Amino acid sequence: MHRDVERVLYTEEALKERITELGKRMTADYQGKNPVFIGVLKGSFMFMADLMRTIDLPCEVEFMAVSSYGNKSETTGAVRITQDLDMDIENRHAIIVEDILDSGLTLNYLINYLNGSKPASIEICTLLDKPERRRAQVNPKYTGFTIPDAFVVGYGLDFAQRYRNLPYIGILKPEVYQ
Ligand code: PRP
Repeated sequence: MHRDVERVLYTEEALKERITELGKRMTADYQGKNPVFIGVLKGSFMFMADLMRTIDLPCEVEFMAVSSYGNKSETTGAVRITQDLDMDIENRHAIIVEDILDSGLTLNYLINYLNGSKPASIEICTLLDKPERRRAQVNPKYTGFTIPDAFVVGYGLDFAQRYRNLPYIGILKPEVYQ
């Protein structure tokens, strides 16, 4: 375990098992639909890569990048799109793939923005959900794990751009971010 991690919340094996379940559900739900999976960078890169291996459907993969936190642990509420979609999602079934849903401000903004392109449907798949922190109403159709309000890192999630490469999700030691 990394020395800055207090404890492991989800091991590689636990993540793999849960992501396989999500992939099976999505594969069943989107039969005949050719959905577009939209990963939100940077945090979702590892989840997206593993989730897509479990999806048995004709589908497309896209990425967007947004920025809201900078190096702070509290959101400012300001969301900025730094990389937009390469394709038109009009009349397409879109699934936004996120690593974590916290205040909901990022996804609330993104859903409104993407709805402007008139997709046939738009759903959210988030690996982690912290409902205690919600400030904007967002209802993910697919959630990996509902977690308490702890500072989690690894498996794509960062603190000040670090720890994204850890293969598990862990709780960061408070002395690291205080
Ligand atoms: C994280 C995460 C979501 C957002 C969720 O991204 O990937 O996009 O915060 O928080 P919210 O529900 O409070 O809006 P972050 O801004 O840390 O960027 P990153 O994906 O590049 O790590």
